[in-house]
Amino acid sequence: MIIDYAAWLNLVLRWLHVITGIAWIGASFYFVWLDNSLEPPADKKDKEAGVTGELWAVHGGGFYNPKKYAVAPAHMPKHLHWFMWEAYFTWVSGFSLLCLMYYHSASLYLIDPSKMALTPFQATFIGLSFIFGGWVVYDELCRSPIGSNNRLFGIIWFLAVTAGAYFLCRIFSGRGAFIHVGAMLGTVMVANVFRVIIPNQKKVVAALVAGETPDPCLGAEAKQRSVHNNYMTLPVLLVMISNHYPMLYSVPHNWLVLAALAAAAWPIRQFFNLKHKGNVDYRYPVAGALGIIIVALFASAHNGNPVIAAHIGKVTPEEVRLIVRERCSACHSDMPTEAGFTAAPKGIAFDTMPEIEKYAPMITDQAVDHTAMPLGNATHMTKEERAELGEGLKALAK
Ligand code: HEC
Repeated sequence: MIIDYAAWLNLVLRWLHVITGIAWIGASFYFVWLDNSLEPPADKKDKEAGVTGELWAVHGGGFYNPKKYAVAPAHMPKHLHWFMWEAYFTWVSGFSLLCLMYYHSASLYLIDPSKMALTPFQATFIGLSFIFGGWVVYDELCRSPIGSNNRLFGIIWFLAVTAGAYFLCRIFSGRGAFIHVGAMLGTVMVANVFRVIIPNQKKVVAALVAGETPDPCLGAEAKQRSVHNNYMTLPVLLVMISNHYPMLYSVPHNWLVLAALAAAAWPIRQFFNLKHKGNVDYRYPVAGALGIIIVALFASAHNGNPVIAAHIGKVTPEEVRLIVRERCSACHSDMPTEAGFTAAPKGIAFDTMPEIEKYAPMITDQAVDHTAMPLGNATHMTKEERAELGEGLKALAK
């Protein structure tokens, strides 16, 4: 019996990360919706008690009537629910998964010697510097005069993250660079909860319990960070699923593709934020959809390996088999020889010609049109071989 500990740990961490991420973002979407959808209280008594908004909702067979107090209720309730552990566990599970995959197996997932021939230690150090450096830059920007102007702040922070993405894409593999952009933004979002939102809320509650008036700056600062988190959600989720799409991370100008898609997500988030307030404006989702189409056209215009004329129609199935055996089979085999692999990744093995034919479109996507495979170019596949493999696979499909 062989237990692949790394694979099981990977599964458990990913599972936890998705669950806690859903719980966190789900609650945060719910509260944004709630806050935007409130109506003035119907009952005079509520008004006198300090309620500024309420709403009625039905869910799962029950009726709910949440109320919002402008400052706080006259008496602190016995049980006050806090929302923070979802965020903390999303970060802890995500960071652990990052360490397990991208730092522990840095040569496969993170380092691309054609960009920078780093040692795993150097790569890890650079990666961590971006993640934690991102928070320092963001927090300073928030506290500077720029922080008080939401629109200006949004533009400057977007440009700063895009610059970070540009440098990351020049240092790491496309996939490794993208996950670091996501980790940087995710860390900012969780740090907002951990360092600002929750501590400020605790101070407000402590002041109220002590019978003092809480400093209004505390609430304003928490609100600012919470608005930022709201707009960062869609780009972060995009990055988290991007590693399934070499058409995003493995094209020239991948940093621009990422930045443009993130920008296209802004009007979509904006549409929902306005819609909750009863202001439905379809120009926003149309702008978002157009943005995505433009990015798709741009990214597709820049993919693909140059076709080498001498190969056209001249690559035999045997040559295809030899290239795949030499460049892919160390991992993609029922009996992999690459260290750390106990089975074919994703169950995809290229041991026989029928297997190669079956996976031909995926091979073309991963290793011909894009350079996502071989992972970390561990087997040093050349550009010529990619072109040759592409021609050979095309001939096979006929
Ligand atoms: C160093 C090991 C290694 C080598 C060499 C390698 N791969 Fe992979 N391959 C992987 C791993 C690991 C995965 C799973 C990636 C993931 O977790 O997203 C994978 C996934 C794939 C997938 C599935 C992608 C998906 O998620 O849809 C395809 C197709 C693929 N490889 C093709 C190839 C081809 C073609 C070659 C040779 C040109 C190759 N690989 C060489 C390790 C390797």
